[in-house]
Amino acid sequence: MTARLIDGKAIAAQVREEIRRTVEERRAAGFRAPALATVLIGEDAASQVYVRNKRRACAAAGIKSIHHDLSAETSEQELLTLIDACNRDRAIDGILVQLPLPDHINSLKVIQKIDPGKDVDGFHPLTFGMLALRSPRLRPCTAVGIIRMLERIGVNPKGKHCVVLGASNLVGRPLALELLMAGATVTVCHRFTTHLEEHVRQAEILASAVGKPGLVPGAWIRPGAVVLDVGITRMSDGTLRGDVEFEQARERASWIAPVPGGVGPMTVAMLLQNTLDATIHNTSQAAQREEH
Ligand code: GUN
Repeated sequence: MTARLIDGKAIAAQVREEIRRTVEERRAAGFRAPALATVLIGEDAASQVYVRNKRRACAAAGIKSIHHDLSAETSEQELLTLIDACNRDRAIDGILVQLPLPDHINSLKVIQKIDPGKDVDGFHPLTFGMLALRSPRLRPCTAVGIIRMLERIGVNPKGKHCVVLGASNLVGRPLALELLMAGATVTVCHRFTTHLEEHVRQAEILASAVGKPGLVPGAWIRPGAVVLDVGITRMSDGTLRGDVEFEQARERASWIAPVPGGVGPMTVAMLLQNTLDATIHNTSQAAQREEH
């Protein structure tokens, strides 16, 4: 069997076009553009690329992004003060603080400061807790992006054995909650997991979000499995590589999301979706119409 490719780029482009049209229609009806505050701290090269992509995607969809590029020396208090100002600003619907933050800043304290109504990353404890309780508000971008991809290819996780590799707060944990909510049987593997191969071999749906190229040999893939590779590592030759041995896995899976061009573009599309949703559902009617 040779797997079909899950074209995340194409699916994301469709989602982004739908958002662009909705924003355009809303503007014609007298609403202002949705607005996202994007906060980038320091010089981390990967974070710079991610934030640049997110800002470009906003612009293409008609979403206003308000850029805050801060030095690596920014204090925790300065960042908390900025978030407080964004929380109170009626012209801002969403707030994105790119992670990781420099070591001297407590990420959890920062995430907790964001108004849950503007929490477009879905990382605030209230947002996360509501997802765990099956009453999601704004949903974590990468995880819900994967759910959308599965919907698009007609694969329902209900009753399926899903194995998630990586238990990070950004991807693994929220993805496990999303899959659980969708009715899957979920196994989460992490750095202390023993017998990784045994778990991977059982996966009808495998999602790997570790960031270790070659972590999953293609021979471990269960025949017919759906493989979603979320790992992304830049190699010394400049190419990007996922966690799963792509070519070998492709011979066994039914569907596979490649790196790059798989899950990554969906994260950005879902950020735009969350910003639009936050505008419509969490910003007052009056503030949605105020031009600045
Ligand atoms: N760093 C890596 N992925 C993400 C993400 O989805 N959101 C934020 N804020 N930071 C990240």
